[in-house]
Amino acid sequence: MIFEQVATGGCQSYLLGCSETSAAVLIDPEISQIDHYLALATRDGLRLRYLIDTHTHADHFSATRQLARQLAVPVVMQRASPAPFVDMPIGDGEMIIVGKLRIRAIHTPGHTRDSMCLQVEDRLFTGDTLLIGATGRTDLPSGDPQALYDSLFERILRLDPELKVFPAHDYKGRQSSTIGQEIASNPRLQKRDRAAFVDMMQNLNLSMPTHVTEALRTNMSGGKSVAQLLAEAAARVPFMSLAELRARVEAAAEDLIVLDVRERDAYEGGHIPGARLLPRGQLELRVNQELPDPTRRILTCCELGYVSTLAASTLREMGFLHTVALDGGMQAWRAAGYPLTQGREA
Ligand SMILES: [Fe+2]
Repeated sequence: MIFEQVATGGCQSYLLGCSETSAAVLIDPEISQIDHYLALATRDGLRLRYLIDTHTHADHFSATRQLARQLAVPVVMQRASPAPFVDMPIGDGEMIIVGKLRIRAIHTPGHTRDSMCLQVEDRLFTGDTLLIGATGRTDLPSGDPQALYDSLFERILRLDPELKVFPAHDYKGRQSSTIGQEIASNPRLQKRDRAAFVDMMQNLNLSMPTHVTEALRTNMSGGKSVAQLLAEAAARVPFMSLAELRARVEAAAEDLIVLDVRERDAYEGGHIPGARLLPRGQLELRVNQELPDPTRRILTCCELGYVSTLAASTLREMGFLHTVALDGGMQAWRAAGYPLTQGREA
């Protein structure tokens, strides 16, 4: 088996490939690592055949949906997954065959209702059901400590103690453990009595993961995160640096329309000399009056540089093919001590 483990912050993703046939599967991919996974697969001579999420993640952005579109391969999740883009729902005890590899799904609800562990040869990919020295939490949507108790004590911990455990998370840089090691030393598994285990899980008082609402929204719907929208827009537009723009403003360059897409009060509080105001919220509807010549060179700016990137992308899409965005925003422009005009333009 060809095996790659990719850590992103505390998230762990796994690329498994069949060394005989070059077919491969990716488990729990994360959105920021798409190029990394594809580069690894290429380096190892692998062709991805399936994308698997071990459960609906609440703490990071899954890349399965995007990769599935990009590569035209199916997304696999447990049958209980609410995500509408799952191409191949899989039930307890079922297998996916990837070349000569057999990937067996074990339904392990508890952390979420749709959690599953995946057994491949001597390895068990435990998702967030069993972590190294911990277990998945049960206080997020569809979590259930009673179900987690059953999944752990009735299913997973009865497997071969030699099985290597590869979890979906590890925050301490560890790569794997074994079932036997976890039974012996995992503090959460020392509460072997059901009531004591459930009581412990209900009183962990963990803080909510960052981006929980956004992660659930995107992972359950296949929709895009804010960061994804911004990255896609940024990939479609060229940028100009603050210093370059300043030089052009000071030279009173006529060839560039600086378009400030903030609201009027922010614009009047201080804008780049010569900049025109066209708030982002009115962009599409007023663009024909404000910018009659689509061949002009336009630079969009806003407070932080995000909204202006979206605006530049929209303008390019509308045919303003010479639109660029400012690399940075008015906050950075002010901090650099660059010139400002207050009020309206004369
Ligand atoms: Fe999770």
